[in-house]
Amino acid sequence: MLKKLLPSVAFAAALLQAAAQSPKTYTIDAAMPKAQISPNMYGIFFEDINLAADGGVYAELVKNRSFEFGTPLMGWKEQQTGGASGKLEVIDRTAERPENAHYLRVKADAATGSYGLANEGFRGMGITKGEVYNFTITARKTTAAFITMTVELRDAKGNVIGKGSLTPTSAAWQKYKVNFTASATEDKASLYVLLKGKGTLEMDMVSLFPQHTWKQRPGGLRADLVQKIADMKPGFLRFPGGCIVEGRDLANRYQWKKSIGAIDKRETLINRWNTEFTQRSTPDYYQSFGLGFMEYFMTAEDIGATPLPILNCGMACQFNTGQLVPVDQLDPYIQDALDLIEFANGGADTKWGKLRTDLGHPKPFNLKLLGVGNEQWGEQYIERWKLFTKAIKAKYPYVSIVSSVGPFPEGEEFTRLDKFFRSQHADLLDEHYYKSPKWFLDNAKRYDNYDRSGPKIFAGEYAAHSTLTGDALKKNNWESALAEAAFMTGLERNADVVRMASYAPLFAHVDGWQWAPDLIWFDNLRSYATPNYYVQQLYSLNKGSYTVPLLVDGKAVAGQDSCYASAVVDKATKELIIKFVNAGDKPQPVTFNISGAKAFAAAGTVVTLTSGKRDEYNSLDKPKAIVPVKSSIAVKGKAISLTVAPSTFKVIKLKML
Ligand code: AHR
Repeated sequence: MLKKLLPSVAFAAALLQAAAQSPKTYTIDAAMPKAQISPNMYGIFFEDINLAADGGVYAELVKNRSFEFGTPLMGWKEQQTGGASGKLEVIDRTAERPENAHYLRVKADAATGSYGLANEGFRGMGITKGEVYNFTITARKTTAAFITMTVELRDAKGNVIGKGSLTPTSAAWQKYKVNFTASATEDKASLYVLLKGKGTLEMDMVSLFPQHTWKQRPGGLRADLVQKIADMKPGFLRFPGGCIVEGRDLANRYQWKKSIGAIDKRETLINRWNTEFTQRSTPDYYQSFGLGFMEYFMTAEDIGATPLPILNCGMACQFNTGQLVPVDQLDPYIQDALDLIEFANGGADTKWGKLRTDLGHPKPFNLKLLGVGNEQWGEQYIERWKLFTKAIKAKYPYVSIVSSVGPFPEGEEFTRLDKFFRSQHADLLDEHYYKSPKWFLDNAKRYDNYDRSGPKIFAGEYAAHSTLTGDALKKNNWESALAEAAFMTGLERNADVVRMASYAPLFAHVDGWQWAPDLIWFDNLRSYATPNYYVQQLYSLNKGSYTVPLLVDGKAVAGQDSCYASAVVDKATKELIIKFVNAGDKPQPVTFNISGAKAFAAAGTVVTLTSGKRDEYNSLDKPKAIVPVKSSIAVKGKAISLTVAPSTFKVIKLKML
């Protein structure tokens, strides 16, 4: 059998060889630094879209915990067993507590059986066997009779998989807690809050968290999801968006001051993605702000990323209402920006720095970057931007301002804003591109001719949108990731102009998304990294200190024979790092001739990300269909030779001696 196979293998190899591109020689001068690479070059774009925060990284398992949704009992269902009866009443106390205007009155008649309600979670609740869960509730008992509360986690079939009980005693609002351990793993669990006895109990802030969270912070973040972003070693964390900054209207805009402090004082707000797309309508999508600005800053600090908040500039989303704050009424918006800088950086002797200190973080967050507006355009933006910039620069000249050049990377509005910001010597221009893989390949040279002395570029949101499929969960395929890898050689080659870049959006719940593709997908228990994630990670972990020329026929490698390449030197590790993409359909034999280094270690390392199928993708069930694979390569003097398979991205690292 083996004998029979041998000739056909040889024949296939010969065919492959015949189909290969002609060999190419590339030159690298490791002793010619071209551009210093920003330490913040590759970062994270976070927005609460696709259940990224509530229902995602914010580990709260109860949806609508404080009965503030437009339909106040959304997510909840009345429960009665064993002959018990009762009544649920949502009480409005807007005048007294405008920021937490509702609570629930439960009138239980449960001398036998039990009466109460159950919460469905965010497309169910993800529960893990052996994990401890912390249940908390704010309650008051308005009748004297004895009432006990049983809290049960039930699996999708109704089996109890975790249970605790407590006895509310106080006639005044009081927080009660009970912890219990889950006896089974379930991704579609629900939480039952059941009363026994006859009487009335009022409740608010009904909450269930896993004890195990990121850094074990109570009421914290989902550890597996934060770990995924930490593993990218991102240079910056942009938050809280995206269009969520702008709001569909101004009332719906993100207001950072309402996102900090006691959790029950953070006013719930409808999430703008709730109603954005009729085909992906998500009526139960609200923002609890449990993940608020303090948590964003702390997460950035945890993962070593520079914080980059983006603030509303007095304009609602121009794709929606486009509401404007009159320029003579813009002061409170500008003050929000100034106060945010003080909150992040000020000492305990300042109003907002003291608040940060009181919230448990005396150390400043070292905020140096601030976005004014998200995807804004037009004269209205320019006039508001001028007022913001004047005020911020007057008080905090060290803060670099990120300015929007609109939602598209070309066109009349882009050109106008680009021209205006260049005339103003703006700091960083926030370019966005959600385009086809072909666009990304064609634009690998985009920054080659940008003005070197003008504003720097922040590629603030980008993703290649595959043309091979319409299925959201298949859009993060190899076609898109490969195109991004090719395009990013152009970002890297132009690191003197492009100072920061982030893929967008970051997270998506497989059952609750509105927008695809996305970098990391998850359900209630699991998550997986897309091939696009690995491309971002490979760039971030191998960003180097400065670029060096990598040329073919005396030119940058940006599409010749469908190949794309860039090279950097890492001063700390003394490595030459080559990124090479063969985006074509044929194998590419390549030789790199390297000058400018005394010698190289005899073996280098190669990380390969590839797939034979451009429509291949990772999924919850097959998370490792496309993952980086490590190998080694022999260095012959000052040259390496290899054949790069079709549709392949390689990162090659050579130790300089
Ligand atoms: O990333 C999704 C959305 O795309 C962002 O909210 C917005 O800035 C862009 O239009």
